[in-house]
Amino acid sequence: MTQDRLGFVSAELKSLREKGFVWSPRILQGEQRARAVFDGHEVINLSSNNYLGLTNHPKLREAAKRAIDKYGAGAGAVRSTAGTMDLHDQLEKKLAQFKKVEAVLVFQSGFAANQGAIQTLVGKGDVIFSEQLNHGSIIDGCRLSGADIKVWPHRDAEALKKLCKDKENAHYRRRLIVTDGIFSMDGDIAPLRELADVAEEFNCILMVDDAHASGVLGRGGRGSTDHLGLHGRIDVQMGTLSKALGTMGGYIAGSKDLIELLKQKARTWLLSTAHPPAVVAAAIVSVELLESPEGEKLVEKLWENTRYFKKALIEMGFDTGKSESPITPVIAGSSVNAAKLSQRLFEEGVFAQAIAFPMVAEDKARVRTIMTAMHTRENMDAALNAFKKVGKELRLI
Ligand SMILES: Cc1ncc(COP(=O)(O)O)c(C=O)c1O
Repeated sequence: MTQDRLGFVSAELKSLREKGFVWSPRILQGEQRARAVFDGHEVINLSSNNYLGLTNHPKLREAAKRAIDKYGAGAGAVRSTAGTMDLHDQLEKKLAQFKKVEAVLVFQSGFAANQGAIQTLVGKGDVIFSEQLNHGSIIDGCRLSGADIKVWPHRDAEALKKLCKDKENAHYRRRLIVTDGIFSMDGDIAPLRELADVAEEFNCILMVDDAHASGVLGRGGRGSTDHLGLHGRIDVQMGTLSKALGTMGGYIAGSKDLIELLKQKARTWLLSTAHPPAVVAAAIVSVELLESPEGEKLVEKLWENTRYFKKALIEMGFDTGKSESPITPVIAGSSVNAAKLSQRLFEEGVFAQAIAFPMVAEDKARVRTIMTAMHTRENMDAALNAFKKVGKELRLI
């Protein structure tokens, strides 16, 4: 009986529930805006990655509709057979120009981009030096590659240097250093300049995941490489179209040869159907917007809001870790406390998602707040009032 064979499933769920580790997503009813309706309640939304509000931009909507009329609803094939449309080609050329690199390859998601790229770059007989707090898609890419994995402590370039220097790590064929640009749970930024120095000194490949830095850091949101003036020093830049760029997909930006090799070997690209034309057309418009004065203004507004909101939370006395970006965690301790904080905030009209183990350490459960360019001063003040009330109630401040 299936029921007998899968008995462990119910037991595992029961155990997760007892530890407070089970969550179910709230349902968004309508658009992803600063005030949005989740589970039937209109709340201030501090949980979306729609950093610049582009998911709802009229120009993206129009481009998507036009593409459906011209090309249909789906691509109908994987990119490597019949699925590469002129639209995909246009998007990649535009992104390469935007990122100031020779070439770009667009994958179906950021997750797929990380997996496909890491597996192409390294394998058995190679080593990956992976940052302690890297995103799960990097971790899974590392595991699937078959390379040895050595983890270095969070943002500690000196510890990375020691690993690279270690004689034990000298015999590997290739050595890949991989890190998030902005860390997704803590909102702090990788010390990329120091990492680039280490990569150059020890002849390692350097790869940066800019999922949360795409559209957020650098001029017009060109990413962490642009933000830190590191053009030409990062071998592999991963970015996403799914967050600030308002659509869906991931990409790898780098040299022509790197992109050509990915086209030959990256399994997540080779073996999965191409993006629908509506998504690609909207993504092209979002890159065009970022290159325009309107895009630059949106990025500035995002940072103005971020500074205002973060400063107020810190002044109230919340533990916000070491965040330097629009992602500001409010650390509550246990997963039960984080769930309570999130629930009470929701009752007060604010949606800030609770994040618990295994996504973060067991004693560092939190709600994660994400600021956007869409939030008004009124939205932010209302959210801050709710944080003050609930924070006092739960003795977090
Ligand atoms: C750091 C990081 N890398 C990669 C991804 C995956 O990107 P995508 O949502 O486009 O698959 C995410 C998104 O959740 C992320 O936070």
